Amino acid sequence: MRATARAHSNIALIKYWGKRDETLILPHNSSLSVTLDTLYTTTSIAFQTGLDRDLFILNGKPASEKERLKVSRFLDLIRGLADVTLFAEVVSENVFATGAGLASSASGFAALSAAATHALGIELDGKDLSKLARRGSGSATRSIYGGFVEWQKGVQPDGEDSYAVPIASADDWDLHMLIVTVDEAAKDISSRDGMRRTVETSPFYPAWLETIDQDLAEVKTAIYEKDFQKLGEVAERNALKMHATTLASNPPFWYWQSETLLVMNTVKRLRAEGTLAYFTIDAGANVVVLCQARNTEKIREQLAQIPGVRDIVMAKPGPGVTILDHDDHDEKR
Ligand code: PMV
Repeated sequence: MRATARAHSNIALIKYWGKRDETLILPHNSSLSVTLDTLYTTTSIAFQTGLDRDLFILNGKPASEKERLKVSRFLDLIRGLADVTLFAEVVSENVFATGAGLASSASGFAALSAAATHALGIELDGKDLSKLARRGSGSATRSIYGGFVEWQKGVQPDGEDSYAVPIASADDWDLHMLIVTVDEAAKDISSRDGMRRTVETSPFYPAWLETIDQDLAEVKTAIYEKDFQKLGEVAERNALKMHATTLASNPPFWYWQSETLLVMNTVKRLRAEGTLAYFTIDAGANVVVLCQARNTEKIREQLAQIPGVRDIVMAKPGPGVTILDHDDHDEKR
């Protein structure tokens, strides 16, 4: 009845933006990401007697009631699968800032899905685990796998065909990501609320949907051809397009801070000077810079000089979700 799992965060090159079903978390568009090696969540769970509700300890402290309820509702789905009524204690550690656009919900719900199902003896394959993780947070769907991962949106109303598929290993890719933190505070508008407002009010949203398949096809070609420049160009363009939909929403909103723009400008300048680098930004102020090994140090030095840049973490493509053994579990508890 106990287990520990680790799942890594991912950064979308083609963004998931907009839900067609808010309860089942079904997207309007397919998306594609890279799993990150240095950003991850380790989650231990113990279903036990004597608890009158689920407990959720996040980064050493009891989580907020809102977070606890989110986890508890998610565990209800898993209890339903196993026909179990026991409550659980969940202890989760992130190695990165939570809720600041670095996809902690992705690694968090992917790790929780694996740990909770393992603890209850439910055996799910990658496809079913990815469908389950989706119910916690859309981007968690993709964190089940390592390397390059596509979340196929599916068309069925029940979501049975909406899951992640690993499309390519990134092992022999020269792909580095610099995660540039400019704002460690949790964002004002959650991705959930931001998506809803965009879908309901942004006149740019139909254009987003009209052009997404083309972006997805281009990024896949870049992946199969190992074409870094093409990958970066499509990813940057797609991220800007997503953020443009928020600017055109009513009322308008944006996730960027002034430092976000400074980082974007620096990447653009470096590129004009001949250093290949591209940026992408999720629903937050932080920026992920895509680059190649030979330029990593130079780019990092330039970014570190920007006032307001708090932290730069290097990442490479990382692995999918794993169950850790019981010794790791005991160490964590
Ligand atoms: O999974 P959520 O609800 O945190 O949504 C993530 C949305 C983006 O990060 C902006 C894009 C993506 O595909 O990860």
